Amino acid sequence: MTNLSFGDYFISKVIFVQILVMSKILVVGACGQIGIELVLELRKLYGTHTVLASDIKDNCPEAIIDGPYITLDIMDKSKLETIVENNNVKQVYLLAALLSATAESKPRFAWKLNMEGLFNVLELAKSKKINKIFWPSSIAVFGSNSPMDQTPQHTVMEPSTVYGISKLAGERWCEYYHNKYDVDVRSIRYPGLISYKSAPGGGTTDYAVDIFVKAVSHDEYTCYLSAESKLPMMYMSDAIRATIEIMEAPSDSIKIRSSYNLAGISFNPKELADEIQKKRADFKIKYQPDFRQAIADSWPNSIDDSCAQKDWNWKNESKLKDLVSKMLIGLSRDKEEV
Ligand code: NAD
Ligand code: SER
Repeated sequence: MTNLSFGDYFISKVIFVQILVMSKILVVGACGQIGIELVLELRKLYGTHTVLASDIKDNCPEAIIDGPYITLDIMDKSKLETIVENNNVKQVYLLAALLSATAESKPRFAWKLNMEGLFNVLELAKSKKINKIFWPSSIAVFGSNSPMDQTPQHTVMEPSTVYGISKLAGERWCEYYHNKYDVDVRSIRYPGLISYKSAPGGGTTDYAVDIFVKAVSHDEYTCYLSAESKLPMMYMSDAIRATIEIMEAPSDSIKIRSSYNLAGISFNPKELADEIQKKRADFKIKYQPDFRQAIADSWPNSIDDSCAQKDWNWKNESKLKDLVSKMLIGLSRDKEEV
């Protein structure tokens, strides 16, 4: 205290104590397609040291491990609890899961990871160790008996993939924990997400990212879905904004505690390729559908998200043309070419 006045010393102590008691946000699955962009945005909004990133991977991008980072297997309940307690974590964004295509090759493991991870986090909130949870669901909760166009929030839901079954079960558990134990859990049924900062992790909608990687490297793209497979999609910045908006909305405005439909842009591979060809005339695509075609065929063409619009003022921004420009610019080394 030698060089400080008593006033300065007192203020520095107060700041120190405030930092100590400041609660943290934990992102689980931080090194995946959504996690990377979400962590960066949350750190921008709330400060780097407020956002603790975690993943089972050791080899995460520097942008993530440059800030607070810890390895965690979400199925390790006691390590999760220790991290939450030691870091005064009050909010968890749970992104760790197996996606639709990968899950089909490991159905039992996909069920275990997708459900156990969610239970571990819901239980922390039930025991009031954390206050708020974000957990994403998916358009995969719908099945071929759901209306395919402008699929409503509440409708027939008979998913045929292990991924969709786990997401639908997860939604029911989220609502149950909210109703029974007053757990503040919030969820969105993301469409297929399109980003260039981070690669997709084994979903059926990944073609809509892979196609740009090939377009930028002047290679022909072989699409594993047919030309007419229309699916709901969204540009990543819109998805990140939706995620933060639903988490920041007043609790009483979140009327749906299973998961909200969320719509971006719907298109098929041919429409996307046509738009890319407007910018890259040499771009070529051919179609060789594989097992992912049946998954895509069971999912909606487009989504009605009027509940999200009404309850927490959701509005999508990016259109197909902007998305194509942003993806080509983002992935291109030579930006002049776009
Ligand atoms: P991703 O596969 O890119 O990332 C998942 C991350 O979780 C990976 O970094 C992986 O290493 C990590 N992980 C896997 N097992 C783990 C474990 N046991 N413990 C801790 N971390 C583990 O997935 P994503 O696209 O970022 O998706 C995140 C969430 O959003 C998932 O729940 C997914 O179902 C959902 N979602 C994604 C999309 C999409 O288009 N990306 C669409 C709908 C829903
Ligand atoms: N993009 C995801 C997938 O294809 C949808 O949840 O698996």
